[in-house]
Amino acid sequence: MYRILELLRQTDAFVSGEEIGRQLSISRAAVWKGIRKLRQEGYEIEAVTNRGYRLISPETMYNRQELETGMKTRYMGHPIYFYAETDSTNNRIRQLAVEGAAEGTLAVAEVQTMGRGRRGKQWSSPIGSGAWFSLLLRPDIPPAEASVLTLLGGLAVCRALEDISGMQPVIKWPNDILLNGKKLVGILTEMDCEMSQVHFVVLGIGINVNTKAFPPELEEVATSLFLESGKTFSRKLVVQKTMERLEEYYDIFLAAGGFAPLLDEYRRRCVTLGREVTVLEEKSFLATALDVTPEGELLVRRSDTGEEMVIYSGEVSIRGGV
Ligand code: BTN
Repeated sequence: MYRILELLRQTDAFVSGEEIGRQLSISRAAVWKGIRKLRQEGYEIEAVTNRGYRLISPETMYNRQELETGMKTRYMGHPIYFYAETDSTNNRIRQLAVEGAAEGTLAVAEVQTMGRGRRGKQWSSPIGSGAWFSLLLRPDIPPAEASVLTLLGGLAVCRALEDISGMQPVIKWPNDILLNGKKLVGILTEMDCEMSQVHFVVLGIGINVNTKAFPPELEEVATSLFLESGKTFSRKLVVQKTMERLEEYYDIFLAAGGFAPLLDEYRRRCVTLGREVTVLEEKSFLATALDVTPEGELLVRRSDTGEEMVIYSGEVSIRGGV
């Protein structure tokens, strides 16, 4: 039936059942059966007597087939596993990685029943409005160097969303993406490694695309592309563009053997720099965020002692909001 889909995709005009049958060497009955199946999958196909069939914009469709169509990357987003519902796409990728899946394998879910955020928080992942997906990376690096992949992920998503929406999201170190001061994207990086070697990294990305309303506890802090622009965006394009930018930046990272060539762009997009921050450690303290190091750490100057120090990971809140 996907061959029928491909045929219909090639034109905005009607294609007769006879023509489809001829081109694919199948019977009229098989054509009709295929059309029925495509409709069951949610494709809108117009049928007019004596003219044939016409596909109505599949742009809003969100399934494996659609995600694969028009994916321009070499390896990011290949293959794709699509789940109508799963607990967490990070779990799916972890399992696939253990079974030997290749770098670039992507898991996408329409709904996550146990979407995970950082620090053991839940990640709200309702149906229909967001892009919830995880990617498998297998960099040949020691674990200590892997934290820059978190920054790389944030940078790529930020860039992709700018490409698509024309709006300019910013990064809150290490990898929250904000629009007009509210959280648009969350990224959860998980790693499997031994002392000297990374086995694999799971980059889990949650993008609020067309969310129209958040639960009361998130209303003040979360936003979506729709809420900031009044426009609806294709989740398929959001995922595809993100894969393109991830591949581009990851290739640069691999070729250079580090984050250095991406650091300037990261700094430009990072809203944390130059701000007064509260570093939330066992004992929280105030500091000024000075820079991001090539290793991906945040360099800060403590307000109480004037001492400069690096923060490796964890929670930093920006004073006065963003
Ligand atoms: C955060 O707390 O900011 C990180 C949120 C990460 C959410 C994404 S959605 C896809 C992937 N699967 C999960 O369970 N979490 C990540």
